[in-house]
Amino acid sequence: MKISYHGHSVVKIETEGKTILIDPFINGNELTDLKVEDQKPDVILLTHGHNDHVGDTVEIAKASDALVVAPNELAVYLGWQGLNTHPMHIGGARQFDFGKVKFTQAFHGSSYTTPNNEIIYTGMPAGILFTAEGKTIYHAGDTALFSDMKLIGERHPVDVLFIPIGDNFTMGPEDAAYAVSLIKPKIVVPVHYNTFPPIEVDPQKFAGLVEEADVQILQAGEFVTFK
Ligand code: NI
Ligand code: MN
Repeated sequence: MKISYHGHSVVKIETEGKTILIDPFINGNELTDLKVEDQKPDVILLTHGHNDHVGDTVEIAKASDALVVAPNELAVYLGWQGLNTHPMHIGGARQFDFGKVKFTQAFHGSSYTTPNNEIIYTGMPAGILFTAEGKTIYHAGDTALFSDMKLIGERHPVDVLFIPIGDNFTMGPEDAAYAVSLIKPKIVVPVHYNTFPPIEVDPQKFAGLVEEADVQILQAGEFVTFK
């Protein structure tokens, strides 16, 4: 399995011949190394409806015929755009041919803003547990700290955690480091920082506060290293 980070909350997983993109925000993401036209994923997983997470999903999925797996309200909305979708929701898991997906809670909002400045409600925001090849990846989405992260880590031992540290809209470095102590992943990768001025944060501050996990601060295009 290859797991790479692409700026903001964009994660790519390559497993058993399938490519999975999580929250593919490319246009408008000055930190990313990806180009929309180069993306040919088999699957797109979405945590919530905010534009910096749905990103270029419609264009990429139309070009690649990717299956889009998202919380129900968001999946329905994207289905209306002509995409091939699979709705799920918090607490539900499903074994797909590319791996197992389970949605967790996240404390945040979820809506999509159209070019006409309409705000479409897209249900509850979520985190995603993805398991394949015996490894579990937890992409926490956008969220505040919550104590049930401990339960999530106990029920699903996490190999790689992607956790937001940018503050303002999500946890900042201190709460994110505390979340790591609850989830107890083997590896943690900070995400959702330095994309925009309100979320400018030094990831070394986060790294210095984490005591037990292997903190891997990745630049866009870099891979998680399994030791
Ligand atoms: Ni958000
Ligand atoms: Mn966000």
